Amino acid sequence: ADQNQNFWQKYGHYFIAGTGITLALAVIGVAIGVSLGTILALMKLSSTWVIKALGNIYVEYVRGTPLLVQAFMVFFGTQALGLSFSAFASGALAMGLNSAAYVAEIIRSGIDSVDKGQMEAARSLGFTRAKSMRLVILPQAVRTILPALGNEFVSVIKEGSVVSVIGVGELMYETGVVQGASFEPFMPLVITSLIYFVLTFSISRFLGFVEHRSAR
Ligand code: ARG
Repeated sequence: ADQNQNFWQKYGHYFIAGTGITLALAVIGVAIGVSLGTILALMKLSSTWVIKALGNIYVEYVRGTPLLVQAFMVFFGTQALGLSFSAFASGALAMGLNSAAYVAEIIRSGIDSVDKGQMEAARSLGFTRAKSMRLVILPQAVRTILPALGNEFVSVIKEGSVVSVIGVGELMYETGVVQGASFEPFMPLVITSLIYFVLTFSISRFLGFVEHRSAR
């Protein structure tokens, strides 16, 4: 019966399983990225120099080193600390810690894009700096931040392929499994690239549509 199955019938489930893990990785990665990235953006805007410096160092260091290196560091670093993280947990954490640095920049530039006069106006109405930020600046910054976060989600789907190196069974990892089992080096990559493309293209289109509708 094995001989009568076509390529997809034999190996399709590897691609489907891998795609599921790729999406899970992206969702968790961006969730960690947005939470930690918001904190980092506020640290970078802090008037206390130590806090500002720590925020800047984190963002510069993470953006200035390869995700490939960071993935290995999280995987072996958690082991060195005696934590027994699964490959998936390490991979999701690495993606989240990496994405946070990019998200911090997205949020900081969104806040910067709001006219300086808005803060002055809010302060002159008697709002504290924190209250002005929360009630006046952030709601306006969200307009530029949200579309950029959508793009970040698309980036994280693609960059997630890197954590296949620590054994996370995402799409790229499963592609390697299929290459080995089928003795076909090229065909699995064609399928995988098509899957990535369908994911990123449909998500971009969807985000563009949502953005267009909310800009009325
Ligand atoms: N290609 C980059 C690297 O290897 C990772 C970029 C991650 N990008 C992102 N928006 N989270 O370092």
